[in-house]
Amino acid sequence: MPLANPVRRLWRDLSLFDGLAQSPEPMVMLVEGERIAGLWPEREFDPALAAGAEEAGRGGVMTPGLVDCHTHLVYAGDRAHEFEQRLEGVSYEQIAKAGGGILSSVRATRAASEDELIAASLPRLDALLADGVTTLEIKSGYGLTLVDELKMLRVARRLGELRPVRVTTTLLGAHALPPEYAGRADDYVSLVCDEMIPAAAEARLADAVDVFCEGIGFSPAQCERIFQAAKAHGLAIKAHAEQLSNLGGSALAAKYGALSADHIEYLDEAGVRAMAEAGSVAVLLPGAFHVLRETQLPPIELLRQYQVPMAVASDANPGTSPICMPSLMANLACTLFRLTPREALSGMTAHAARALGRPELGRIAVGAPADLCLWDIRQPAELAYAVQAGRLRQRIFNGVITHAR
Ligand code: NIG
Ligand code: FE
Repeated sequence: MPLANPVRRLWRDLSLFDGLAQSPEPMVMLVEGERIAGLWPEREFDPALAAGAEEAGRGGVMTPGLVDCHTHLVYAGDRAHEFEQRLEGVSYEQIAKAGGGILSSVRATRAASEDELIAASLPRLDALLADGVTTLEIKSGYGLTLVDELKMLRVARRLGELRPVRVTTTLLGAHALPPEYAGRADDYVSLVCDEMIPAAAEARLADAVDVFCEGIGFSPAQCERIFQAAKAHGLAIKAHAEQLSNLGGSALAAKYGALSADHIEYLDEAGVRAMAEAGSVAVLLPGAFHVLRETQLPPIELLRQYQVPMAVASDANPGTSPICMPSLMANLACTLFRLTPREALSGMTAHAARALGRPELGRIAVGAPADLCLWDIRQPAELAYAVQAGRLRQRIFNGVITHAR
């Protein structure tokens, strides 16, 4: 039910990026309660339209609240020693095959209680919030037992209750093969399909299901079983695909109507076409590309040609992207992948929201939820151009100013 007397707040003289484009002239924005209620060019604005509204800000760049559509924020421990090993020349795959990598975070996460995981994850979440995130996705995938995967998803949901942020959750049971299933990958996939997915769906702990389709992850045939189970339980589909090699995981996910295929450095034209036909979003993860010192670039030009929307996310995780700074991701997407600043910002707002199946978010539009960021910069491109903490003047979540300075 709409509030009888919603709080009305007005922002004047804004340089406004609406999630897809920059307004050509200074704008006025009215928020009523939880929603954006009015948008006018400054020179056409009649104050009578916003009678009784409190002026909450003047000047600066207003963008939608940032949407981080791919994170592994919940985990225990750290992998600083693997970072050093990789600097000495050991590859991510070699570390994984020797029982490190994802499995090392699995050991630490299994040993942690829910409260310990909350305590470990909150500083990372707070860093994202302080840099403008108002919606994020959090994956499981460091539990790899029914109990531990559900534990991670509960922690993710609780994080969304502890802070003013929207959290969507993704079951990533097929992240790595746990050691107790060595040589029995198909049996583990059965556990994911027959126990984890039904339990997560039944308890409403997961919004989507993800897989790691890769030589060191799961085969396309195994991923397909998981997509079928996800669909049967009404859950959306995502895939870590074409990160280290081209197995056709993105096209397979597209065949099942995936919201997104993520990483995709090794994606080929057939995969791009399949994604375009299915309406899947390409989620680019420049943090992982940077940390792994990858050299194979995602097929940006083909994605543009086929008009596949490109999102940009942090992939915040203890291995390939221990980075909780979305504005750095905008910069890396431009410097490493040659996205334009506008593409990078759309990638962290409108297109990221689509990658979560929440197209009403990530936009500044009349009627949309008032999740917004007011930045102390002169033009939106500066967000990608300069890497500098502390530029967020106000963060507005669901109509409420949660950070201000
Ligand atoms: O998105 N590719 C697989 N999963 C993560 C890495 C997780 C980890 O190394 O802990 C990724 O890069
Ligand atoms: Fe990831």
